[in-house]
Amino acid sequence: MIKRIAVLTTGGDAPGMNPAIRAVVRCGVANKLEVMGVFRGWWGLINGDLKLLDHRSVSGIISQGGTVLKTARCPEFKTEEGQERAFNTVKKFAIDGLVVIGGNGSFSAAHKFGSKYNVPCIGIAASIDNDINGIDYTIGADTAINTGLCAIDNIRDTATSMERIFVVEVMGRDCGFIALAVALAGGCEDVFIPERPVDLEASCHDIVHGNLIGKVSWIIVVAEGAGKANDIAKKITEITSLETRAITLGHIQRGGRPTALSRDLALNLGKAAVEALMRGEKDKALGFSAGKIVSVDFETAIKKKELNVENILKLIKTLT
Ligand code: F6P
Repeated sequence: MIKRIAVLTTGGDAPGMNPAIRAVVRCGVANKLEVMGVFRGWWGLINGDLKLLDHRSVSGIISQGGTVLKTARCPEFKTEEGQERAFNTVKKFAIDGLVVIGGNGSFSAAHKFGSKYNVPCIGIAASIDNDINGIDYTIGADTAINTGLCAIDNIRDTATSMERIFVVEVMGRDCGFIALAVALAGGCEDVFIPERPVDLEASCHDIVHGNLIGKVSWIIVVAEGAGKANDIAKKITEITSLETRAITLGHIQRGGRPTALSRDLALNLGKAAVEALMRGEKDKALGFSAGKIVSVDFETAIKKKELNVENILKLIKTLT
């Protein structure tokens, strides 16, 4: 029987973390558990910065992006000393299990910490990058894609009116998921992702050919892990002599009100995480796959996710 759990958000924030916190707290309380909120992720566990949360303390956060618990990247948690201090906090506050809301860096840390000190940890997959292995959809990815899409739609208006080429950089360090989704839904002409080598010569050939047959505006989406929008735009102008503009969306995609999909995932996964801890489960990440909640061992979840990119790339090209 567990009595007290703690919830934390770690790594890069993702829209939908707040609804996930809300669900963990309210489902925990409904099941007669005490729920503590840890501030600034692992940092808060190391430094004992946590407090009891009740039903009312998560009122009004369901529609807010970011995380009311704050989040941080915490190199100190990689050290023996940091982990030892975090474990002291777990003992001091008699915490029986942790709900870790974050991405693969957070799960890797939770796996090591949980195994070393026998602290049950359940992860909730939240990352705009959607790069958790074994999980189709993470909290925040849909919101980030829709934010990127709004930007593309706006850029399209000016690109068409002024007959220009645009290179739009979206987030995605090692994973082209956001770029592919935005490029497809935005009707973009090309996309560069970290999973494939960038062939700028071929793209420029397409642009010049398009130009000759009257296609004069062009939007190329580039994932940050595949190159910098500014450098690519410069090279396109050098090769084609056509006017090219660069835009980097950056952290704009990390904020904003979570979409219905991001909230629904968050609320369902929050509930599932509490229930998993109550059943005595540990060392697992929860997410959505094929429309269902799935639970994936941390060790599997942190492996490289292989995206099936070929079909999407082909479709983008066919529809150009
Ligand atoms: O959380 C994932 C992510 O947004 C990546 O897409 C991006 O590369 C990284 O985080 C940026 O991290 P930071 O906000 O710490 O610069």
